Amino acid sequence: MTTTPTLNEPADPLDVRPTPLALLLLGRESDPRSERGVDCPGDLPAPSDPGLVERARAAKARLGEKVFILGHHYQRDEVIEFADVTGDSFKLARDAAARPEAEYIVFCGVHFMAESADILTSERQQVILPDLAAGCSMADMATAEQVAECWDVLTDAGVAGTTVPVSYMNSSADIKAFTGRHGGTICTSSNARRALEWAFAQGEKVLFLPDQHLGRNTAVLEMGLSLEDCVVYNPHKPGGGLTPEQLRAAKMILWRGHCSVHGRFTLDSVNEVRERVPGVNVLVHPECRHEVVEAADFVGSTEHIIKRLAEAPAGSKWAVGTELNLVRRLAKAHPDKEIVFLDRTVCFCSTMNRIDLPHLVWALESLADGKPVNRIQVDAETEHYAKLALEQMLALP
Ligand code: 13P
Ligand code: SF4
Repeated sequence: MTTTPTLNEPADPLDVRPTPLALLLLGRESDPRSERGVDCPGDLPAPSDPGLVERARAAKARLGEKVFILGHHYQRDEVIEFADVTGDSFKLARDAAARPEAEYIVFCGVHFMAESADILTSERQQVILPDLAAGCSMADMATAEQVAECWDVLTDAGVAGTTVPVSYMNSSADIKAFTGRHGGTICTSSNARRALEWAFAQGEKVLFLPDQHLGRNTAVLEMGLSLEDCVVYNPHKPGGGLTPEQLRAAKMILWRGHCSVHGRFTLDSVNEVRERVPGVNVLVHPECRHEVVEAADFVGSTEHIIKRLAEAPAGSKWAVGTELNLVRRLAKAHPDKEIVFLDRTVCFCSTMNRIDLPHLVWALESLADGKPVNRIQVDAETEHYAKLALEQMLALP
């Protein structure tokens, strides 16, 4: 049995503690520092309204070509039913950019995805997020102020000049702009290795934001770096909890962030499912903890998981470590294969689930009445620098 060695966080090597910006449950209050917890400004239809499906259909039909609805793979079935296209965060941002005729892009996903879509679409297009409380706890774990402070720490340690920032798509537009300003790139879970190879060709070290697990898994399992090459920068400790010597010795400076959904899978989940389902293949997302990915049979991005299961032979058995809405949909789509959730406890992404049929109906009906709601708009300067980092990703070899 392999465990993640203690890095610079001896008390909690798995590092799955709540963020100080704890979720404001069900968006009942507002927290301007967080992507989440924003009140809905409108009158939502009741979830019990039996006419919701018909209302969504009618509003979509009234809008016609003016609207394009994007649905992330982790969305609820009731929402996916109305999506014109489904995909992971990167594919959806590209799909939005490829639809210049659509006046409204309704993004059924989370806030950072809607921001990326706004950055990549034209001025004329409006990106709408049906519920502003649909944020991302991982994206919230790296704020612009914290990252600016981190860069000062790297500067004081004399390593900023040789460090290239690589930021996961799952980050706010501010963090993407920071990355662009400092000559870095964005990456997704499907191109993280290429992004790191590019970054190490530009400099000696990488500051990887905000998902420590994707950074560590890619560096160690795909690029041959050692765990000792990685340090974790904790924004809640002075100097990130690291000495200048540790920063100088490190190759990967991992931000202390994680996905609250994928971070829940444990080595016990893997061992337990192997006992419960003999012959099972364990397939996990690289946002899972290092030891979980090491113990799995396969690792890959959301799109990779979908493709692998589609190509798997009939009769094969799979335990999948990713968001539950997607796993359930895949199990339904492939009844000839045995597809189970990796953990025994349910594990939806609570913020993805904020987008439900009442919010979608409210957003579509408002648009059809000519009153756009919940527009996501990135300011011009942030957009300029964030776009540099996104374009660098698109240009990766
Ligand atoms: P992808 O959409 O890039 O697979 O990322 C997974 C995720 O956690 C989305 O929030
Ligand atoms: Fe964020 Fe994880 Fe939810 Fe994706 S699944 S939106 S990374 S919390």
